[in-house]
Amino acid sequence: MRIDPAASLVGHVAVPGDKSISHRAVLLGAIAEGDTHVLGFGRAGDTQASIDAVRALGIEVDDLAEDELLVHGGELRSGAVDCANAGTLMRLLAGLLAGRPGRFELTGDESLSARPMERIGEPLRRMGARIETTDGHAPLVIEGAQLQAIDYELPVASAQVKSAVLLAGLTAKGETTVVEPVPTRDHTELMLEAAGVRVKRRPTSVTVEPAATLRLGEVDVPGDFSSAAPLLVAAALVPGSDLTVHGVGLNPRRTGLLDVLERMGVRVSIFNRRKSGREPVGDVQVQHGELSATTLEAGEVPLLVDELPLVALLAAHAHGETIVRGAAELRVKESDRIEAVTDLLRATGAHVKSREDGWAVTGVPTRLRGGRVDARGDHRIAMLGAVVGLASREGVEIEGAETVAISFPGFYDVLDSLVRR
Ligand code: S3P
Repeated sequence: MRIDPAASLVGHVAVPGDKSISHRAVLLGAIAEGDTHVLGFGRAGDTQASIDAVRALGIEVDDLAEDELLVHGGELRSGAVDCANAGTLMRLLAGLLAGRPGRFELTGDESLSARPMERIGEPLRRMGARIETTDGHAPLVIEGAQLQAIDYELPVASAQVKSAVLLAGLTAKGETTVVEPVPTRDHTELMLEAAGVRVKRRPTSVTVEPAATLRLGEVDVPGDFSSAAPLLVAAALVPGSDLTVHGVGLNPRRTGLLDVLERMGVRVSIFNRRKSGREPVGDVQVQHGELSATTLEAGEVPLLVDELPLVALLAAHAHGETIVRGAAELRVKESDRIEAVTDLLRATGAHVKSREDGWAVTGVPTRLRGGRVDARGDHRIAMLGAVVGLASREGVEIEGAETVAISFPGFYDVLDSLVRR
């Protein structure tokens, strides 16, 4: 895929439904009583894997439209589940199944099979789960068992691990508490509350009570902030740009990028703030601005964990040196995103050094040269490559560009509709 330089990005656009919330709607819909109507579902490779997963466990899901589902809740039965590339699916499903009768085998693709799974195996076993990993990785084998509630202090800030323990807590005896080192996305907590589960929330911990029945009824999924992010960053980088993304999720545990953009000197405006169920939503406008360097620390990382590759790109165009620290988790995402970003940005002319837990980026406030890059099978790296191309002098050629379909199948068409050349 070749991405040519853009003169500007101008216009109004919407993005597909939030991936994190779409996964949760399918998984909780599967165990809920009655039907769950999911609107604004973000259909993509990862979320389709969640639909296929619950179907493999005996749940009926009607595809009412591209972005609309009816999930017929019921009893999950034993089965083998292919989680494909979806880490969120594998980790949340493991927690959901650990306390339910049956035998479940969870597999994934090559990238998912290289990602750490003891981070869920260990706390779930403490609850009494019978879960085996394969040398700490997928495949996972789970034999449903009676669980006991625990108080669990997360060793890493991970919403996926937090969610796995909370979902296991639904079937445990007693109240399950998860303590977080720093706050991570809270979509699971919000959806459990909406389903009638008793959830107690404190600034750094969350407790769930066991729940025999959940009732969701309807889930209205907001646009995915992480899919809006590459568009917003492209607009911030390319002079003359003025872009508005409508109906995007603005959960404060997801929008750290907006704070970073403002800190770096970009004009960000938010209109039509509203709620979609319990999730905040709005329209976000970004206009190009001169960028200055900034610093990111561990406490901020979970609020923009999937946008950090884009932050490194912003830094490459900013006056001064930007340091990103406390982001070692990026090494165990769909690719080693610290090395993937460093290689991609260097190949296109930026001055970037990897650190164990982030980057040091020396910005030059001009367009990068461009060049050939490899997506490494990672959707967020492919999107980064496309944004580099738009903001470059010579354009970018992306190897493996089709991997964007994991989270945003129409990505290149949406870009095309906004770009002026
Ligand atoms: C997600 C949590 C994050 C994020 C991932 C989706 C979720 O992962 O990177 O894309 O839906 O809970 P970690 O919680 O493992 O950091």
